[in-house]
Amino acid sequence: MIEISNVRKSFQDVEVLKGISLEIKDHEIYGIVGQSGAGKSTLLRCINGLEPYDSGKIVVDGTLVSSQDKAQLRNLQKRMGMIFQSFNLLERLDVYENVALPMKFWGISTKSEESKKKIRELIGLVGLEEKMHAKPRELSGGQKQRVAIARALVLDPQFLLCDEATSALDPEITKGILSLLQRINREMGITVAIVTHQMEVVKQICGRVAFLHNGSVLAQGRPEELFIRPAHPEIKAFLRDSSELLPTEGVNIQIFFLGEDSGEPVVTQMARELGRDFSICWAKLEDFRDNVYGSLVLNVEEADKEAVCNFLESKKVAWEVL
Ligand SMILES: Nc1ncnc2c1ncn2[C@@H]1O[C@H](COP(=O)(O)OP(=O)(O)O)[C@@H](O)[C@H]1O
Ligand SMILES: [Mg+2]
Repeated sequence: MIEISNVRKSFQDVEVLKGISLEIKDHEIYGIVGQSGAGKSTLLRCINGLEPYDSGKIVVDGTLVSSQDKAQLRNLQKRMGMIFQSFNLLERLDVYENVALPMKFWGISTKSEESKKKIRELIGLVGLEEKMHAKPRELSGGQKQRVAIARALVLDPQFLLCDEATSALDPEITKGILSLLQRINREMGITVAIVTHQMEVVKQICGRVAFLHNGSVLAQGRPEELFIRPAHPEIKAFLRDSSELLPTEGVNIQIFFLGEDSGEPVVTQMARELGRDFSICWAKLEDFRDNVYGSLVLNVEEADKEAVCNFLESKKVAWEVL
């Protein structure tokens, strides 16, 4: 488990982490999401000790992350694999040698049968058996990230920290990488922390997420809780999905589909029971992991407002008048 409490960090006199608190539990996929410059990468670098923090505490499985004790810090780092947007592969080494590199760094023999087997298995896991001896320049972006993932796993880490791991990849390739991360999480029990500015990533695989804005955590919870009905204007702005083209006549009512009630045909029921017509003027339904969530905006006549509100209230769906 990674416990972060009230962490502050400044560069020169600019505070970029302003008292961050959050907890990443064992075996989950936790997202840290927010606009560029929010402090996401800095936070991740503090978690694995690449960057010292000024105050507060980061505790990994009971051990304080601190730049004071170098040996202890190195041992913690060994338990945290990392991948980046830029892959960071060594161009002169082939796939096999890149994956083996952390072993070399840690003085583990790469010639033992056990090590060779491990390296080959990981290259198999990421689906690159056929590229075992290709150089990075012969690989696509998605393949390079797969090599980086295999390399990050070679020391059997407990955590995998990902900093914008899919931000340089196109949507189809991104999906493949995310499925791979999900498999690694489920099958190997590795806790995954994902820093990203891409909502797609959060929606597809994160079980829980923190929204970082300007060095502070504005909200945390399940992605659908944070993003279907965002409570903060900063999150709304980040999503950029509210319509500016809603009708100015009548009353606009937004209905939220938050899981349990997604299957209920509320709108058609309402039309039938109230004997009224409504126009749907905006709608969005999205996949979050294995569920569909979303919202739609109905435009109703002023005279029907009360009946509609009463109906929605009786159905126990989440709704609001815009
Ligand atoms: N090494 C550094 N020196 C000075 N300022 C930095 C350094 N690293 C990051 N910053 C600043 O800290 C803020 C947060 O950056 P970063 O953590 O990279 O955000 P994000 O990953 O969310 O885009 C930005 O304003 C950035 O310019
Ligand atoms: Mg960043």
